[in-house]
Amino acid sequence: MMTSNLFTLRWGILATGGIANTFTKDLLIDPTTRDAGDIRHEVAAAASSTSAARAQDFLNEVGAPGSAKAYGSYRELVEAKGVDIIYIATPHSHHYQHARLALEAGKHVLLEKPIAVNAQQCRILRDLAKERGRFLMEAVWTRFFPLSREVVEFVRSGQLGHVKRVFADFSFWNDVEKEFGNQHRMVNLDLAGGALLDLGIYSLTWLFMALYHVQPKETQVAPHVSSAVTKYKPTGADETTTVLLLFPGTGAQGIATTSIQVATTPNPDLPAPDAIRIQGTFGDLTVNYAPRPRSYTLTPAASQARGTLASFKHETKSFEIPGGGHGMFWEADECARCVRDGRLESDVIPLEETEALMKVMDEVRRQADLAYPESIENLEYPLEGFGL
Ligand SMILES: NC(=O)c1ccc[n+]([C@@H]2O[C@H](COP(=O)([O-])OP(=O)(O)OC[C@H]3O[C@@H](n4cnc5c(N)ncnc54)[C@H](OP(=O)(O)O)[C@@H]3O)[C@@H](O)[C@H]2O)c1
Repeated sequence: MMTSNLFTLRWGILATGGIANTFTKDLLIDPTTRDAGDIRHEVAAAASSTSAARAQDFLNEVGAPGSAKAYGSYRELVEAKGVDIIYIATPHSHHYQHARLALEAGKHVLLEKPIAVNAQQCRILRDLAKERGRFLMEAVWTRFFPLSREVVEFVRSGQLGHVKRVFADFSFWNDVEKEFGNQHRMVNLDLAGGALLDLGIYSLTWLFMALYHVQPKETQVAPHVSSAVTKYKPTGADETTTVLLLFPGTGAQGIATTSIQVATTPNPDLPAPDAIRIQGTFGDLTVNYAPRPRSYTLTPAASQARGTLASFKHETKSFEIPGGGHGMFWEADECARCVRDGRLESDVIPLEETEALMKVMDEVRRQADLAYPESIENLEYPLEGFGL
């Protein structure tokens, strides 16, 4: 274990909802349980827009150290001394405003997905982070799983041949009407709800990892977008959405699907087919589950004419999530290393790529005539009503 160069990143948690709870618990897991002996995380503070008491309850619930401070406003948190980076876990609709608040206060930012409601907001956040010399990253934790990094390297190495097509699904069955009222952030347009921005971003992430991220700069060209969107009648949010991408740099195609009415895994007690399928000229690589992948399978192609060109055999590789965590600590470790090394963005999820993916989601919404209220598509800052 390297202790002499141990770097500590001090976190401020902005919002106290479901994912803030999961993420903060992961921060508190000893990094040596995942062989990350060079960094550590400190939960230094949390803020709730409701009250300082709510923030204190949150800190108690997650088991934060007694030294962690509780704030009853987001502004107090971003201005707090002893905090290096703000993890923002408010609804989509609020990401732009809250990220600006933190960056303007001079803090580094890890921002829950999607980074913003539209690509223009994303662009402004990128520019602001750069101007202020602060680290900024969209919290697509999936990319930091050792499994995902291995898959990306496998594709990049050319072992799968030329990747021609990728299918990716992330759909989460909910009896939407019963499970959520129409005010819930999954279906509420005022909170930028809908399948695409909440779940479809993971399907699109796998397309981007396999077809865009691995490409050299000259073939990293924005994809053409075709899409079909079915709306959730009570609110008009997107309910079942399919996106077809054509990457002009390579001619490869990607199909991303998402829904909040049918599921990738309809019954967790029964096996489900792998959700991601990456098809290369030497064979297929499938991944079991989009957001939190646990296994991948290689299937070499057999061709009578060409024999087997694949250098790999048929096998399934499974991965554990160490330390009893959820798997969100790997993205946190990346933040710590970037801040330690003075890097303003991560190579694993460059901001240019975050914006390219956001542009795809903008285009899908444009094709479906699906706009969110002006108050949250807005570029103005600060706006009333965002708990600032
Ligand atoms: N990476 C992942 O796996 C993952 C999983 C789930 C969600 N997410 C993302 O994380 C974000 C939050 O999702 P969540 O499931 O944690 O949501 P949630 O449980 O509803 O929590 C959101 C929190 O934001 C704060 N908030 C501030 N203004 C709000 C408003 N006007 N309406 C509702 N909440 C408001 C509230 O905390 P305080 O007021 O106490 O601050 C609330 O508890 C979303 O962007 C979502 O896409 C990511």
